[in-house]
Amino acid sequence: NNLDQLYRQVIMDHYKNPRNKGALEGDHLTVNMNNPTCGDRIELQLQVEDDKVVDAKFDGEGCSISLSSASMMTQAIKGKSVEEAVKMSGIFSDLMQGKEVDVDMDDLGDIQALQGVAKFPARIKCATLPWKAMEQGVEEEEAE
Ligand code: FES
Ligand code: FES
Repeated sequence: NNLDQLYRQVIMDHYKNPRNKGALEGDHLTVNMNNPTCGDRIELQLQVEDDKVVDAKFDGEGCSISLSSASMMTQAIKGKSVEEAVKMSGIFSDLMQGKEVDVDMDDLGDIQALQGVAKFPARIKCATLPWKAMEQGVEEEEAE
């Protein structure tokens, strides 16, 4: 239907014109994570200051779902507090598992486009990979 088509366009746009692809300069933390089922990997760089995600960039090799999700994720978390970013990751994970989420879809922005992926269990790992990397990164940061 039209909504699925729109979602597919949003995903392809992020895949072809990734936001925040590359490397951060200055102080940042780096997380490398791979998807064991396919070997694809993502490198995420985060600049966290005073419990706030000031900047985020990613690089790596992966399928259109994982890379578009990384693009959307970096866009979504920039400027958010660490707490908000982790909460958003939980919401996204629920969305991918086809669970009801108690959130205004508009607040999710582009990341809602990935909910169609929830119909394909093998691809859910692709979509959540960048979010898991982000969670691991902020956990390590807080442990320091
Ligand atoms: Fe992994 Fe396309 S490269 S499914
Ligand atoms: Fe490897 Fe999607 S197929 S991350």
